[in-house]
Amino acid sequence: MRFTIAIDGPAAAGKGTISKAVAAHYGFAHLDTGLLYRAVGARTLDGTDPIEAAKALTADDLDAGNLRTPEVAQAASKVAVIGEVRAALVDFQRAFARRAGGAVLDGRDIGTVICPNADAKLFVTASADVRAERRYLELVGKGTEIDRETVLADVKERDARDMERAEAPLKPADDAVLIDTSDLAIQEAIAAAVAAIDKLSPAE
Ligand code: CDP
Ligand code: CDP
Repeated sequence: MRFTIAIDGPAAAGKGTISKAVAAHYGFAHLDTGLLYRAVGARTLDGTDPIEAAKALTADDLDAGNLRTPEVAQAASKVAVIGEVRAALVDFQRAFARRAGGAVLDGRDIGTVICPNADAKLFVTASADVRAERRYLELVGKGTEIDRETVLADVKERDARDMERAEAPLKPADDAVLIDTSDLAIQEAIAAAVAAIDKLSPAE
């Protein structure tokens, strides 16, 4: 069976958490496409050209351990503005989306550009304050020394860059179901996502 679920939204909205749970629920594979941009961004921190890094990217690069840092997140959103970088990453994402057995992809442009014909599209959001607090707690939990103001500024800066870029800007697809997780616990957000997908896939 081929079934593709596209989950987009701004930083720390809960896309990854929801995507993993949705993939487990349906027995589908999951690709966090942010990792592609993070892997390219990480390479640029040691001076590599972003377009060359994107062209040379392999699945193994996504397992690098240091991709979840705020520095890499910023570098990722900077390389994500470059059309040639985005173009170099399209085939990998589309091949993943088409895999037999079903796929969940989360990112910024999955429902709009990568998989415009996805069977189900969700746009997951939450207020910037809520998202920044979640990311702050996540980073502090991992032992990162950082303050709330820095995390909020990072989230807002990346949101603005992601929404204002010319290529594949962050925005909900016309046919996406909006899920605002500001006031939802994780289990409630997952339940809302599964309910929305079940409605779109009566064949499941
Ligand atoms: O993938 P994305 O950046 O959109 O967000 P995430 O990594 O899934 O979630 C960011 C943090 O918020 C994680 O620590 C989640 O556990 C937490 N979270 C939450 O507290 N409540 C939710 N409804 C969803 C996520
Ligand atoms: O987890 P979080 O939402 O904070 O970030 P991410 O999903 O890992 O994405 C990091 C950066 O990669 C984003 O700020 C975007 O600039 C970029 N990105 C993108 O442009 N398109 C995607 N499909 C996924 C990520």
